[in-house]
Amino acid sequence: MITRNKIIHFLKTAEGYLSGEEISRHIKISRAGIWKYMQELREDGYDIVAVPHLGYRLISSPDKLLPAEIQFELGTKILGKDIRYFDSIASTMDAAFQLGVEGVGEGTVVCAESQTKGKGRLGRNWASPKGKGIYMSVILRPALTPADLTQLTLLGAVAVCEAVGKFCDVPAKIKWPNDILVNNKKLAGILTESSAEMDRVRFVVVGIGVNVSTPLSQMPPHSTSIKNETGKKVSRVVLMREILRSLESWYMTLGGNGFASVITRWKELSSTLGRHIRLVDPSGNVEGEAIDLDEYGGLIIRGENGLKVKRMSGDVVQIE
Ligand code: BTN
Repeated sequence: MITRNKIIHFLKTAEGYLSGEEISRHIKISRAGIWKYMQELREDGYDIVAVPHLGYRLISSPDKLLPAEIQFELGTKILGKDIRYFDSIASTMDAAFQLGVEGVGEGTVVCAESQTKGKGRLGRNWASPKGKGIYMSVILRPALTPADLTQLTLLGAVAVCEAVGKFCDVPAKIKWPNDILVNNKKLAGILTESSAEMDRVRFVVVGIGVNVSTPLSQMPPHSTSIKNETGKKVSRVVLMREILRSLESWYMTLGGNGFASVITRWKELSSTLGRHIRLVDPSGNVEGEAIDLDEYGGLIIRGENGLKVKRMSGDVVQIE
C-alpha cells in the first residue's frame, strides 16, 4: 500500500485520536511528512482535525471514487486491487484498453469523477457530469473465445442490476442485453470492448456507467438516476464497492458453474422477456414478442408472422 493510502487506512480504523508519533512509528515517515500528507488529504475533501497533544482524527471522508476509499473494506480477491483514478478523463474505456494492451493485471479498474467523451453502446454518448455518477472500466482476462464474449455482456448486466437494486426501492431490471432499468427508465449501462485473436480473447474491458444523481436535464429521454427514483443521496463509494463485489462474484460463478447460472439469473431480472418489442438493428428490424434467451444469450423473438427469430445484437424498444 502506498503511504497516502496507509495513512487513510490508519485514520479510518483508529478509535479516537492518532498521535503523529504513532503514525510515524507505523508508517516510517517524519512528523513533517505526516503533516504534509494531512494537508493534501484535506485538499481532497477529507475532514481531518488536528489537536495539540492528542493528534489527528478523521471526521469524514469525501464521496470521491478515490482508490483508498473504494479499497477500504472492499473484500474482493482480484477486482479493484489496482485502481487508476482520474478527476477527469475522455473515457475510462480508452484508458483501460490502453492498460490492457500494456499487460496490466486482471481486475485493474479505471474510474473517473467525470468523462468528457463518455461512450455508450451503439456509438452513443454517455453523460458523465462530475461527481454525479459512477464511471468505471474493469479489465478482465477471461478464458473465453471471441464467440463467447456475449457471456460477459449478460454477466455484467446481472452483476450491476443486483448491486444497484440494493439502493433502489423498486426492483432494478435488465433490458436486453444489458441496460439497467428502474421504473422502465434507464439507470445504468454497460459497454464491453475486447481485444482478441482468432480463437483467443486477450482481454475485455467492461465499462459501467451508473446515474447516481445525474440531473435529468443532462441525460437522454427515458433515463433516470438513483436520486431521482428514491429521493435519497447514495454514496458513490459504497455503490462502487458493491458493484465490484457483485461483478467479481458473478465472474467467479462464470468460471465455476459456467454460463447457465448467469442466464437463469438474467431471466429472473429481465424486463424484456414476455414483452412486445421492436429490435432495431442494421441487419433489419424485428417486431414481436421477446420469448426467451438461447444458451448463448441471443434474444429469441416470435415475430408477428408467428415465426421465431434469434438476434445476437441490436437495440430493443419495449413497446408494451
Ligand atoms: C450504454 O450505452 O448503455 C453503455 C454505457 C456505458 C458507460 C460507461 S461509463 C464508464 C465507461 N466509460 C465510457 O466511456 N463508457 C462506459
